[in-house]
Formats: sequence, structure tokens, C-alpha cells
Amino acid sequence: MAMIALKCPDITVTVVDMNVARIAAWNSGQLPIFEPGLDEVVQQARGRNLFFSTDVAGQIKKSDIIFVAVNTPTKTYGVGAGRAADLRYIESVARTIAEHADSAKIIVEKSTIPVKTADAIKTILASNSRGVKFQVLSNPEFLAEGTAVKDLTNPDRVLIGGERTPEGEQAMATLVGVYARWVQRDRIITTNLWSSELSKLVANAFLAQRISSINSISALCEATGADVDEVANAIGKDSRIGAKFLKSSVGFGGSCFQKDILNLTYLCESFGLPEVAAYWTSVVGINDWQKRRFAGQIVKALFNTVAEKKIAVLGFAFKKDTNDTRESAAINVCRDLLSEHAKVCVYDPKVPADEIIADTLGKGAQNPRLTVAKDAYEACAGAHAIAIVTEWDEFKTLDYAKIFAGMPKPAFLFDGRNIVDLAALRQIGFQATGIGKG
Ligand code: UGA
Repeated sequence: MAMIALKCPDITVTVVDMNVARIAAWNSGQLPIFEPGLDEVVQQARGRNLFFSTDVAGQIKKSDIIFVAVNTPTKTYGVGAGRAADLRYIESVARTIAEHADSAKIIVEKSTIPVKTADAIKTILASNSRGVKFQVLSNPEFLAEGTAVKDLTNPDRVLIGGERTPEGEQAMATLVGVYARWVQRDRIITTNLWSSELSKLVANAFLAQRISSINSISALCEATGADVDEVANAIGKDSRIGAKFLKSSVGFGGSCFQKDILNLTYLCESFGLPEVAAYWTSVVGINDWQKRRFAGQIVKALFNTVAEKKIAVLGFAFKKDTNDTRESAAINVCRDLLSEHAKVCVYDPKVPADEIIADTLGKGAQNPRLTVAKDAYEACAGAHAIAIVTEWDEFKTLDYAKIFAGMPKPAFLFDGRNIVDLAALRQIGFQATGIGKG
């Protein structure tokens, strides 16, 4: 919304939320999320044509276009628990709009939702007693965290789905008109509602599938003496495969990939397609295995016991340049090491200590074996092993000779992101290994 406000000074954008503290943070000097470049965008537009407010009902009345951007977490209860999307926030927003709207509106699904959700939204909106006309569009978001501003400024594509009726086409044209202020027209795709809703889940499933594919091959590289980065480079040169998103890792994390694949598999099963569901489920299965495999390799290399040994975990966010830890592989790695009674000391440049502890142990829980360091040097001091779990740039340029000097020998380093020069580290004296480095 900040980007739309920045690019369209004549459009007033008001972001509303019931959460007073959250809105206060968006109105303050300290934004509630860390995202490179976002501060500048918000600063330029806020107070001009970008506003943050808790007046949900009032803004529904005033708006012509309403973007629904609420959480659709994985359902934790009842039918579909653990896989289906929990749509209660979507339903609640649709009911709130139906209750307060008194003029025609375009409702845009921005949240990632299962196919056919627009039907449910339409049915709820139709209950509006004032006979207000609504058009529901699907406009999934493809930005990635850490590069959100760049992705929004120059998107590969903008996808807009709507009903293929004159009113639907009209609504789509209105939304196309907003994005066309800064996005090349041939990059704005219009489809029917269901294609658009489904494309979002499929895009994430394909991206995640690439990572699981290369991660599965990383294990084969380790067994055979091949190097997974060399293999990725060799296959990526084939333009049909492409070079991007082939970086082997300790496993993908983030709030989207796993959730969206589980959601997709649930949909497949609901539509009587168990074979399709099984295919996509295996993408998550390989990811879980890769995360376990990394912690297992550490234990194995340290002579099958890490009990009371200090392990430095560098990075906790699910990727660099974000403070988001949702589904981060670091959580699994830390838990596995703690279950082996290791002393785990974590450092992340952006994630606060209380969050690292709460994510690993559960809210309010403590374990004296889990500590958080203020920098990488403190985390590594006296450690038997270092595990690089997030690819923060600063981990590439640490003074590893100094770190090595302060570690018991043999000193181990496990690079879960393949960002450091293993040969140089071995020269220093480290027992250094990466993912898929045979
Ligand atoms: C992902 C998609 O990339 C976006 O297009 C999508 O809009 C977004 O989900 C969403 O649905 O909201 P995001 O989860 O922010 O974006 O980050 P990614 O860059 O996709 O990374 C996801 C995970 O995969 C991270 O843990 C990352 O480290 C890992 N990854 C990524 C790899 O292990 N290897 C790679 O080659 C690429």
C-alpha cells in the first residue's frame, strides 16, 4: 500500500487495522517490521496520501477499492487442521465490509487464499442489506521479504483476476489503471478469478519445489564428491531450467512456502486428487529432512555427542535482510541441538533475543543451555562448532582466524548456506563443511 501511495500521489491510501499498537507503530519513527528501503517509501508518502488508522468502519465507507490483506494461517483445529487455510479473518473482514459499506466497491483479495474463496466473499457481501454492488478481484502478491521494495518497484508481473462479465472487466480495468502508473502494461496480466487465486499457490509451490530438488541433490553430492553449487551452475545455464532459486540450503523457511504447499495439497485432496497431493507433499517432506540432516551432521561430526558442547548458531531469521523468523530452519536446528543437550548460543543481527528464545522454546519457557550473543564473535568464543544458518552478508567477512584462535580444537564450521570460502577456512585450521560439498 505504501508503494501504491508513493507511485500514485492522487490516490489516497489508508491502511486500517483493529490493532491499535500496530497502527501506532506505523505512525511512529520506528516501523514495526524491518524491510530494506521501506522506511524511505513510508516517509515520503505518509501524511501526504498514505495514512494509518484504526477507523475501520469509517474508511470502508469512504473507499472505492478495498484490499483485504489479513492473515490466512494454517488451520490448527478441526477439519483440515495442519494443512487447510484458516479463513476466519477473511470472513470477518467480508462481514465488516458488508455491514458498513453504503456505496459500490471493488474488493481486492490480497491475502493468499485457497481457490474459490472469492465465492465465499461474494456470498457474504451479498448479505449487505443496502443493496450495495460489489466486485471481487484477486490480486495476489509476489514480493519476497528482504527485497520487497525492489520487487514492488519492478515486478516480474502483476496478476489481476476477476469475473469475465462487463462489471468484472470494468473493475479489473480500474485496478490495472492503478498499477499501470509504474508497471509496464504487458507485465500486468488479467485472468479469471480462479486462475489468479490458484496461480499464487502454484508459484510458491514451484519455487519451493526447486529448493527441495536442489537440496535433495545436495545429499547425493555429499555422497559422491560432487559440489552442489557446481551442479546448480551447470544445470542453471540451460535456459529452460534457469539459474535462479537453485541455492542449496539448510532448508527453506518463511511464512509462505510450507503453508501454501500444505494448502495446495489439502485442495487437491478435497477435489479427489490424492496423487497430486502426494507429489507436492514430498516437497515439504524433503525440506523437513534437510533441516534434520543438517543438525544430524553436526552431531555426527562432533564424535556423535554434542552434550555440554557449545555450538554457535549464526543467523536466526529465515533469510538475510529480514527480522522475520517464521518457519525459520534455525528454529529446528536449535531445537535438535538442544535435544542433544548442546549449549546453543545464537547471534542474529536483526532478531531480538526474546524472540529467538520464544521461537525455539515456546513463549515464556527458559533453558539455560540456550543463550543469545550480542555479536558473532561472542557467539563463537569457546564454541566447539559454528553453524551458519542464515546467509547474512556480515558472516562472509568475519575474522575467522581470530574466531579460530578462541575455539577448542578441533574447531568445526558447518556452512548451511554455502557463503564462506571453505578452502580458506581449512587453511586456518577449521574442519569446515558446507551443504552438498562432497
Ligand atoms: C516467497 C516468494 O519468493 C515470493 O514470491 C512470495 O510472494 C512470498 O513467498 C509470499 O508468498 O509472500 P519469501 O518467503 O519472502 O518469498 O522469501 P524467498 O526469497 O522465497 O525465500 C524463502 C526461503 O527459501 C528462505 O528460507 C530462503 O533462504 C530459501 N531459499 C531461497 C533457498 O534455500 N534457496 C534459494 O535458492 C532461494
